[in-house]
Amino acid sequence: MKPITKALFPVAGLGTRFLPATKAQPKEMLPVVDKPLIQYAIEEAYEAGIREMIFVTGRTKRAIEDHFDMAYELETELAAANKHELLRVVQSIKPDDLECVFIRQPKMLGLGHAVLCGSLLINGEPFAVLLADDLMVGEKPIMRQMVEQYAEWRASIIAVQEVPPEQTRRYGIVAGTPVRDRLVDVSRIVEKPAPEDAPSNLGVAGRYILTPGVLDEIRNLPRGVGGEIQLTDGIAGLLRREKVFAYRYEGRRYDCGSKEGFLQASVELALEHPQIGPGFRDYLASLRESGRV
Ligand code: G1P
Repeated sequence: MKPITKALFPVAGLGTRFLPATKAQPKEMLPVVDKPLIQYAIEEAYEAGIREMIFVTGRTKRAIEDHFDMAYELETELAAANKHELLRVVQSIKPDDLECVFIRQPKMLGLGHAVLCGSLLINGEPFAVLLADDLMVGEKPIMRQMVEQYAEWRASIIAVQEVPPEQTRRYGIVAGTPVRDRLVDVSRIVEKPAPEDAPSNLGVAGRYILTPGVLDEIRNLPRGVGGEIQLTDGIAGLLRREKVFAYRYEGRRYDCGSKEGFLQASVELALEHPQIGPGFRDYLASLRESGRV
């Protein structure tokens, strides 16, 4: 099987949970400290050796395309003003060997449908899927961990984490047989089950490596939970034909699709930021001392 060279980013969603901020701006462009969410996801894929980024986009998402395009006027101005550090920051958003391809999802029919919209560009190869809402941080980037698992098992790999039993309705939930530490041979996957129906407490995080067979499965799916064509149901179909593994990644996930998760990511990444981290830490300490938190 081929190595993973393509990653698909479903970015057509409306971002209603962040209105009014997302009325005229894609939710994937909301910044955590100083980088938009989508850039974190692209960098994670790039660090995993992936070079072809497929954006499944929609109306009102122009800013994402512009972000990964050359900003000719800005770059010329920065160069003329000798602002070399800022110029480097702007130019490093898209390294020369990174390719971006954009395709539209005309109707919001679900995550499975978004993946299917990108299928023409997948070209029958195994591919990664990254949901930019899930900001993932690990000493070794999470997608890199997954690519390593894929290289060993040559099968679909789904990132999972333990979730509180009362939160199973927010996730795809997998169950199966442990193969070794951090790895489960999946026998079942269900989208957003009620706690009493959940087969385990292993929730799917927004990182997948999938074999192309999943696309045939999605093509034949009826609508699932929430009336949507679910990627989870496609993976459930794939399971009948191929092995699928769930991988308990090493690292942290922030659910930046929710305000709480977004704020947690902002605070924690600000604390780790080389320039603003120390000052921000002092600021938080002063809030504590003054009894405001
Ligand atoms: C999607 C998937 C779900 C997964 C989750 C991770 O749900 O359908 O299986 O657990 O992402 O963030 P969404 O959060 O888009 O409703």
